[in-house]
Amino acid sequence: MTLWDNEYIAQSVLKKHLDKNIDSGTRKESTVISTIQWIDKIISQKGKMLDVGCGPGLYADLLQNCGFKYHGIDISKYQVEYAKKKSKYEDTIFEVVDFRKLSLSNCYDCVLMLYGIYSFYKFEERIELLKIIKDALLPGGSVIVETFTKYHYLNRRESRDWTYIEKNGFWSNEPYLELNAFYRFDDLELVLVQAAKINSDVKVWNSWIQIFTVEKLQMEFRIAGFTQFEIFSSCTGDAYNENSEVLCMVAR
Ligand SMILES: C[S@@+](CC[C@H](N)C(=O)[O-])C[C@H]1O[C@@H](n2cnc3c(N)ncnc32)[C@H](O)[C@@H]1O
Repeated sequence: MTLWDNEYIAQSVLKKHLDKNIDSGTRKESTVISTIQWIDKIISQKGKMLDVGCGPGLYADLLQNCGFKYHGIDISKYQVEYAKKKSKYEDTIFEVVDFRKLSLSNCYDCVLMLYGIYSFYKFEERIELLKIIKDALLPGGSVIVETFTKYHYLNRRESRDWTYIEKNGFWSNEPYLELNAFYRFDDLELVLVQAAKINSDVKVWNSWIQIFTVEKLQMEFRIAGFTQFEIFSSCTGDAYNENSEVLCMVAR
């Protein structure tokens, strides 16, 4: 079961994305604005921009304001529906697309993969996506990708706990027992965030997250044909430091 095929859960996810004060699913409003200012500064070709895993499209109109022609794709039809309604630009494009089935007919000056989407999928799926993006990039075009490093999880121990939810929970409107677990696979540079809902039936959600070093991220992009890299500690352009929890890379 995924986070996207049940309307109730999809709305819970959307609600978290839209909370302006927390970093959950998307960045806080102030960080989104700083990210846009940074992108505006470093990407001089203000042509077509593809946002992979665009969520509720919080970056869309701000990027259009900077002169980009924005095209957002997301696997969740609920996120895309919200994004379409919210955008004030008629030429902004939002589409329900699973990037594992992506084919691109346009060429882009810039491709965004913000807030971890690149980390949620397997090596083979990541490389396949990068190759498709590389083929669709115009000369001088850039990819901006954001992943987490081991420092993000450094103090997080393996854990398992449960909570009884009476009503209006994240996973269901009905009463249920929620089981949460966090597992580390340090040798594979992976973590697993697991949630289960138990009431009349049992549902389990597994979120595998790949942890990256600069070397690992660059190696994957090299396989897909990228040759130039700049590394930052955030998508607001902070200088890279080796204890950073976030790795933001601009690849060409
Ligand atoms: C962590 S959120 C980031 C949203 C947005 N980039 C932001 O920073 O506000 C990841 C997004 O990726 C989408 N997503 C996950 N898997 C996807 C896939 N295979 N293809 C397209 N979108 C996907 C999710 O629906 C979710 O909206």
